[in-house]
Amino acid sequence: MPRVLLVSGSPSADSRTAAAVQLAGAPLAAAGHRTDTLAVRDLPPDALLRADTADPRLREAAARVAAADALVIGTPVYRASFSGLLKSWLDVLPRHALRGKAVLPLATGGSLAHALVLDYALRPVLGSMGAAPVTQGCFVLDAAVTRPADGASARLDPEASARLARAVTWLGDALPGPVAAVAAA
Ligand SMILES: Cc1cc2nc3c(=O)[nH]c(=O)nc-3n(C[C@H](O)[C@H](O)[C@H](O)COP(=O)(O)O)c2cc1C
Repeated sequence: MPRVLLVSGSPSADSRTAAAVQLAGAPLAAAGHRTDTLAVRDLPPDALLRADTADPRLREAAARVAAADALVIGTPVYRASFSGLLKSWLDVLPRHALRGKAVLPLATGGSLAHALVLDYALRPVLGSMGAAPVTQGCFVLDAAVTRPADGASARLDPEASARLARAVTWLGDALPGPVAAVAAA
C-alpha cells in the first residue's frame, strides 16, 4: 500500500494546521494507506536556518520524504503566503525530493481573501521540486477548526470537512489502491 507522509509546516504548538493535516490523513489510514507524520517545528531550528543538510535529523526527515509515495503538506497562511518555517525546510530538501510524488497542499488561514495562497505561492514551489500531481488544494478557515480542551480529537465544521474529504479523495485518486475506500472512509 502507498505511504503517505503528513507534513505540518506550522510553528504553533497547538496548531490548527497540524490538526487539519491529521484529519486529512485519517481516511487515508482507514483505507489502508500507511501514514506517517512530520512536524517541521520539531526539526532542529539551527540546522534549518543554517541549511545544514548534514544534520542527522534533517537527513532523517529527507529520508521519510524519499520513502513516501504521496504527501499532504499543510501550512498556516502568514503574511499572505505560506509559512517561512515550511519554506526553510523545503529549501534544505534535495532539489527534486518530490519528483513523481502526489501532493495535496493544505492551508489554514484567518481570511478567505488569502485562500489562493495555495495556488499562487505553494503550488509553484511544489511543482519546482517535481511533485506530480499537485492535487486540488484545500483552504480551511481557522474558525472552522475546533480543538476541544479535553484533549479529544480536533474537528472541522461540516462545510470545511466536506471540502477536505473531497480533496483527500482526489489525492487518493492519484494513488494505487482502494480509491473508493478513501472516499467512503
Ligand atoms: C504572524 C501571522 C500572520 C498571519 N497572516 C495571515 C494572513 O496574511 N492571512 C490569513 O488569512 N491569515 C493569517 N494569519 C492567521 C493564521 O494563518 C491562522 O490563524 C492559522 O490557522 C494559524 O495556524 P496554526 O494554528 O497552525 O498556527 C496569520 C497569523 C499569524 C500568527
